[in-house]
Order: sequence, then C-alpha cells, then structure tokens
Amino acid sequence: MPGTTVEKKKDRLASPSSISNQLGGVTVINHPLIQVHLTKLRDKTTQPSLFRASVKRLATLMVYEATKDLKVLDTVVETPLTETSGVALSQRVGLVPILRAGLGMIDPVLDLLPMAEVWHLGLYRDEETAQPIRYYDKLPPQNPVDVAIILDPMLATGGSAMAALMTLREWGVKQAKVVSLIASQEGVDAVASQFPEAQIYVAQVDPTLNDRKFIVPGLGDAGDRIFNTV
Ligand code: PRP
Repeated sequence: MPGTTVEKKKDRLASPSSISNQLGGVTVINHPLIQVHLTKLRDKTTQPSLFRASVKRLATLMVYEATKDLKVLDTVVETPLTETSGVALSQRVGLVPILRAGLGMIDPVLDLLPMAEVWHLGLYRDEETAQPIRYYDKLPPQNPVDVAIILDPMLATGGSAMAALMTLREWGVKQAKVVSLIASQEGVDAVASQFPEAQIYVAQVDPTLNDRKFIVPGLGDAGDRIFNTV
C-alpha cells in the first residue's frame, strides 16, 4: 500500500524539532511549505527547472526564519500622509554562497536582503576523500561583516560548512549562520561540535550518509540537479 510505504519512510527521518539557537546550535525549521518543497527536491523525477524553483522557494522560507535575530534601529519615515516610526537594519550582512550549489539560493535571499554583501567561496568535495577543496576565496583581509550567512543546499559530512566557517572566523566574523536545505545527522553533529557558536538552519536532518558520503535518503547532488549536469 503506498500509504504504508510513506509512513515507514517517515519513521526513519529525524523528527523536525527546533532548538533556540541565539548562541549557536541547530534549528530544524518545521513548516508545511518547507516540507512540501523539500519533497519536490527529493523526487528523482523533478526536472532541473522545478528543482531550481524549489531551491529558491525553500531559500526564501528558510532565510526568513534564519534572519529573525537581525538587529534594527529605529528610524522615522514620511508616509504620503504623515511622519511615523520605522526601522532599518543596523548590521552589515554578508551572504556567502558556496559554489556551485549555493548559487541556487542567492537570488531569493538577495531579494529579501537587497543591501547584503555577497562573498563567494568556491569549495568542492574530493570524490575519493570527501574532503573539501578550496578553489575560490576573495574575502578581504579586514573589515568583516557583522553577520555572515553561508548558503549551501547540502550539509553532508559538514566538511564544506566547517571550511567556510573557518574562513569566516579567520576574517573576524563574530556571528555566522549556515542555511542548508538538507543535512545528515553526522554532518550537523560535526559542525555543531567544532563550531558551537555557529547558528545552523536546516529543513531536514536525514539519518545517514552512504559509503560515498551522500546524504540518505537525501536528494542526490544539488549542484548537479540545479545546473543540469547530472
Ligand atoms: C556539495 C554541496 C556542499 C558539499 C556538502 O558540493 O553543495 O557544498 O557537497 O558536502 P560536505 O558536507 O560533505 O562537505 P559539491 O562538492 O558536490 O560541489 P558542487 O556544489 O559544485 O556540486
């Protein structure tokens, strides 16, 4: 029975939970729309155009949550009728998409944070060792942003996220967030233990990695599915 199969699979997934992470830790953002769009990403029949659109929708929903603690200052604004109070962001925000797959998340996040700076990091996983290899990094030596948001659809072993967090730490960033659409338990545990101050936001934590360090059940390789290079 199809319903039975779905129920069994659901049992194997870590149940969504949310831990307040003002001071670091993992937040699994539990929202019906997030789970619906994530299901589109998981579906192996989803074509690249819908896959890209679903990544963008998820990025919007997740960054809305992940930016809840941004600081604002009071301002005054003139409406067409009168003067009233408003707010403006008081922090410099840097978006850090990890190439390639993180590029799929950048546009919708920039729509929400049009004043953000974008600092690209190029990392790929060595296919033999699953270790991250850095191939692009143009972060300036000084003047770090106040809040950095790493964007990468996948957090598998956590190696790429940790390499990015180390780069941001070396830049002097005081508050770093990681927004990933899907993660493995092993990966989030590794990042949270090595970078306890980092705020990690994911839509789902899957239970395992396979022998090639792919998230299982996962969604395949997000970069290849976004860019149609499967
Ligand atoms: C994928 C993914 C992450 C990384 C996650 O990138 O987009 O960057 O692997 O794995 P990890 O947590 O074990 O480091 P990939 O190396 O496939 O490069 P791509 O984005 O260019 O496809």
